[in-house]
Amino acid sequence: MSAPDAITRAPVLILLGPPGAGKGTQARMLESRFHLKQLATGDMLRAAVAAGTEAGRAAQSVMEAGGLVSDDIVVAILRDALDAPDAAAGVVLDGFPRTEAQAAALDALLAERGRQVDAAIALEVDDAEMVGRISGRFTCAACGEGYHDTNKPPAREGVCDNCGATEFSRRADDNAETVRARLEAYHEQTAPLIAHYARLGTLERVDAMASIDAVATALARITERARS
Ligand code: AP5
Repeated sequence: MSAPDAITRAPVLILLGPPGAGKGTQARMLESRFHLKQLATGDMLRAAVAAGTEAGRAAQSVMEAGGLVSDDIVVAILRDALDAPDAAAGVVLDGFPRTEAQAAALDALLAERGRQVDAAIALEVDDAEMVGRISGRFTCAACGEGYHDTNKPPAREGVCDNCGATEFSRRADDNAETVRARLEAYHEQTAPLIAHYARLGTLERVDAMASIDAVATALARITERARS
């Protein structure tokens, strides 16, 4: 078996869904269960903002307002991440693509690398539920494990299940006004991609109002199919 064949079969999964749909939660679970690399453009942009890079400086005010960062910046970040050695065994894209231009850029980037989108998974949820999910969300400051005040609290209050750290943080854009803007951006610019992937025959729909474990079970079945 040649090396290029092995790379071609590494799955490329996309998680589509509005803010709070559970993209990050599920991407981390897929990473841990199937050793896929989670590529989360939101996390990458927040890291760029924290590091004060040129891309981070351009993205900061847009993110604070709940809008979408320019396609050029996001596609450049994603291209570098796709070429990292840890992406060769398969990736789960969390929060990318978000516009039709990003979807076209992704198709081109993958084609150049002999890869393709194996499954675009739409996490289907109600907007009203999202506000509650986002306002209750917090993250371990040390390892990034995600939690929720009521839906997913740490087993021991104040202690991360994953790494034992005791410091947690909440995102600056998780306030009611910004969440509304993020939902609007999703419906206007990202939701049309569902029809795009339906046309290509790669769309999978998952009821993401179900429990975290039930959604994970549905995604595991899709991932098994994509890997075979
Ligand atoms: P990003 O970081 O991608 O944020 P988002 O899309 O708004 O999504 P979230 O991270 O808020 O939600 P999630 O779906 O990951 O839900 P989670 O798993 O945390 O983007 C942030 C910003 O960056 C954007 O606004 C934009 O400015 C910019 N950006 C990023 N990518 C870009 C791109 N490609 N182009 C342009 N700009 C870009 O779950 C939420 C909570 O709910 C958690 O507490 C979790 O425990 C809980 N939960 C999860 N699943 C369930 C469930 N099934 N039942 C009950 N609770 C659940």
